[in-house]
Amino acid sequence: MTMKKSYILSCLLSLCCFQIFAMNPGNEEPDKMQWWNEAKFGMFIHWGPYSMYGGVYKGHQQRFGGAEWIFNRCKIPYLEYRENASHFHPDRFNADSLVLLAKKAGMKYLVFTTKHHDGFAMFKSDASEFNILDYTSFGRDIVDEVASACKRYDMKLGFYYSQEQDWGNPGGATARRPMNQGWAHPDSLLIDEYTQTHSGSWDGFQQTKSFEEYFNDVSLPQIKELLDRYGKDLSVIFFDYPVKTTKEQAAKVLDLLKEYPHIIINDRLQKPDYPGDYKTPENMVPKAEDVEGLYWESCMSIGNSWGYKSWDTRWKSPATIVNYLISIASLGGNLLLNVGPDAQGIVRPEESGCLVEVGKWMEGYGSIIYGSSRSGLKPSWGKVIRKDEGKRTVLYLCVDKWPDNGELTLEGDWRPRKATILQNGMPLRFSKGKGCLIVDVPEKAPETTLAGTPVIIRLELTKRLPAERLFTNSEKSVGNHGLDG
Ligand code: GLC
Repeated sequence: MTMKKSYILSCLLSLCCFQIFAMNPGNEEPDKMQWWNEAKFGMFIHWGPYSMYGGVYKGHQQRFGGAEWIFNRCKIPYLEYRENASHFHPDRFNADSLVLLAKKAGMKYLVFTTKHHDGFAMFKSDASEFNILDYTSFGRDIVDEVASACKRYDMKLGFYYSQEQDWGNPGGATARRPMNQGWAHPDSLLIDEYTQTHSGSWDGFQQTKSFEEYFNDVSLPQIKELLDRYGKDLSVIFFDYPVKTTKEQAAKVLDLLKEYPHIIINDRLQKPDYPGDYKTPENMVPKAEDVEGLYWESCMSIGNSWGYKSWDTRWKSPATIVNYLISIASLGGNLLLNVGPDAQGIVRPEESGCLVEVGKWMEGYGSIIYGSSRSGLKPSWGKVIRKDEGKRTVLYLCVDKWPDNGELTLEGDWRPRKATILQNGMPLRFSKGKGCLIVDVPEKAPETTLAGTPVIIRLELTKRLPAERLFTNSEKSVGNHGLDG
């Protein structure tokens, strides 16, 4: 065979192999979950005119919940909130810096709030004038800037879209929250009475349309606008959150999505008929048994709010984030970590600094996270991440509690080839114990580059273990979460 022929043949062969691996078994569709399942770490961004309040209204700190809820929790009058939003002018926002920050942290995708519950679209919309182009003098389409930056830097793009809660467009859902979650409004009692008899709404403007009208006039057309513009490049839609969306309404959204079979959606479009592709536990690591065999993603903030809260002081440390990543990866999930830029569009140093540190750890050890899968092991000393590397499975033993007898035990009948401490390359001896493997470890735990993160032992097995078959929510219908900030 000539060089040229054999080259063409090998190209064809590798193409076929790629196709086989990229398919769902027994399914003609390419597996849209594959990249997502391998990515493991993404950036969530909550940003809109609510960041102008920073969690403070009339000098009062919002008493409860995420600062992106200030419109509702503090019961800001409809026209007042809209008027304030018209001054949203985030001159210092730079989509490139945001995407590069995500890259630096080792994140592989990004989910941006195109419209949160306040109803303000961060993109030009013909369905509602309450959008960044028509309602402000800013003159820039933020969503477009984020989408182009993602394209430029090869970052997977995801949109958050609040399809049901909408406090700034008439007819949108207005979840009822009592005044004691907002501020000491002198008319608190009256307001609470009003919201009780008006399905949670606190301002007459909100009820000038029905939810059905809102859904057909704003929500659905805006989803279509976003899909028409970005559908081809879009990888994820994070809907939020379903209480009154009907099966018929959700079906209309799904109809729009038919053209884009590569787009992954979360579990918050409509309950219980459309459970979506993946589960979204919020601000927590779920119990192992609740997510077994499923695709799932925990979303969390670095601070204590999704949207910018000027008085936030509770920041997660880089080590805490790394430990969450490890726990989540050991259970086969993804981490969507949130930042909330300020009114100018700046990600504050508490958040960016944390991301840079996490990024340093990821640079050294991210390979144990990306493409990993659930190990199903629950040792008392830490977490175990499974990674299939070529012909073999490797177990990464992440040791939080270093044994004081020099022996680390792993229950089960394991046949390793070798064991090494990842941090310093030190080879370890191992032997078979009663119903377990015993790895001999040094008396003193070696130093880690980031204090408070575990020592990692790379345990290479002699063969590759059978892969776990994962299901999307829709394939395996389960209950989901209806949460709020
Ligand atoms: C919620 C909230 C919200 C936040 C989100 C993040 O459902 O209402 O403010 O955007 O969860 O997961």
